[in-house]
Amino acid sequence: MSSLVEKAKERAASEALNYLYDAEIIGVGTGSTVEKLIAKIGLEKDAFSTKMFVASSYDTLIKLQSLGLKVVPTEFLAKKPDVYVDGADEVTRNLMLIKGRGGALLREKILAYFSKRKIYIVDYTKLVNVLGEKKPLPIEVIPYAVGWVINELVKRKLNPKIRMCRNGKDGPVITDSGNIVIDLYIKIRDPESLEKELKSIPGIVETGLFINLADAVIVGYPDKVDVITP
Ligand code: 5RP
Repeated sequence: MSSLVEKAKERAASEALNYLYDAEIIGVGTGSTVEKLIAKIGLEKDAFSTKMFVASSYDTLIKLQSLGLKVVPTEFLAKKPDVYVDGADEVTRNLMLIKGRGGALLREKILAYFSKRKIYIVDYTKLVNVLGEKKPLPIEVIPYAVGWVINELVKRKLNPKIRMCRNGKDGPVITDSGNIVIDLYIKIRDPESLEKELKSIPGIVETGLFINLADAVIVGYPDKVDVITP
């Protein structure tokens, strides 16, 4: 990754801190940009040691816990997180997002939906005109149904590919919730209708399309940040 992109991620992560100081419960997403935010939280122990965190993945859970932060389980948590901060793979100017490169889309969408404010931190390379321009759309599928789901997606010309592990394990990626990730290599002209179509297929647990789930996207550049709001 170029150092310009790294700098841009750092700037977006720094800006995101401002959205966290007033929160009591903070939801934390997954990925390399969020990793930078977690590191910054770790440097401000005084401001964050009394706060409660909820994690969108084991990866984030481990990172938060290793800094001694208070991570609470979400099971039976009735209070909504005050704010949720996460990265994204693609973002349009009207705040439609693709997420899920890290395979955490199901828990990420749950946290985004149930949090009072949803903030995303991205570098400038994530801005696109059309979703699917640069990255595939991940969907999370129950293993029991995966063969039939694949056939259905092929029939609908959605260009599916089961995501395979690159290292550490042979075979398909298995998510933190025990599901398979299928990536759809398509340009998405109508995200709302695609979301409906995909959710109508039994076995598809969640999609990486985040529609109406963003209150702000902080876009980092090497020398500045922009904040896109609805
Ligand atoms: C994980 C995600 C990530 O938030 C998304 O992939 C962005 O990651 P990065 O900040 O590393 O580019 O959706 O499931």
